[in-house]
Amino acid sequence: MSTTFQLDTGTSRANPTPAPMKRLTVPAIHQRKVDGTTAEPIVVLTAYTARQAQLLDAHCDVLLVGDSLGQVIYGLPSSVPVTLEMMAAHGAAVVRGSYHSVVVVDMPFGSYEASPEQAFASAARLLKETGCAAIKLEGGEAMAPTVEFLVKRGIPVMGHVGLTPQAVNVLGGYNARGRTKVEATKIIADAKALDDAGAFAIVIEGVVEPIAIEVTKAVGCPTIGIGASAQCDGQVLVTEDMLGMFDRVPRFVKRYEAIADVISGAAAKYAEEVRSRTFPGVEQTYQPK
Ligand code: KIV
Repeated sequence: MSTTFQLDTGTSRANPTPAPMKRLTVPAIHQRKVDGTTAEPIVVLTAYTARQAQLLDAHCDVLLVGDSLGQVIYGLPSSVPVTLEMMAAHGAAVVRGSYHSVVVVDMPFGSYEASPEQAFASAARLLKETGCAAIKLEGGEAMAPTVEFLVKRGIPVMGHVGLTPQAVNVLGGYNARGRTKVEATKIIADAKALDDAGAFAIVIEGVVEPIAIEVTKAVGCPTIGIGASAQCDGQVLVTEDMLGMFDRVPRFVKRYEAIADVISGAAAKYAEEVRSRTFPGVEQTYQPK
């Protein structure tokens, strides 16, 4: 499968193929953190489609095809029902739409927890079918043997600790983690176990700031915060949250746009013009020569 950006602009709505650029690599991301310090924070956004990837790619170091696509794209109540097929289809689209960022694809719930062998089969499928460079999976100490198994077999792994949305049924909700001593100790131990197992980076999600800082100091690999701390080695947001696509704005989200208003405003204008027969106009209609 081709991993280069080759959309046929004659038949698709894609922009012209950008000048080929060397893609960042997983080791380059890992090596951004030197002696516990990351001089240049790692920029990560989620992407689910080729066009979205095209628009984000030049600005990011990593594009994460998150299983948050379950809620964002498919309107599912959580990421639990997301399938490997969905991740493979969207992962391939994002790889086709990018040429610079490292593309990481989430392993969906149920595709990796049973055994390292199950995880290898799922991860290998994602790498083969999408052309992505790495996968992400949720969980700490319990998943460390699986992470080691994958890394030793050529599959780079991004870890994910703290609030792990696939475990929503165990956690009982999406509240921030690390408020009690027991939780805080567990998050730090989880991150250390993933680091020791060879994860090239670790997402810290929904964790009180002092613990996020402690984790960042405790591990050799870069940490990527979401609802964590500016002291993490990088940050990730769900792109649609950052763009203002949804009414609900979680505390950890900063809106950089109000794209929902732009879309619904444009749809209202279009509807008005269709109903008043002012669209299509002369410019949009074909006339005999
Ligand atoms: O699924 C996702 O988008 C994620 C990020 C929010 C870290 O896991």
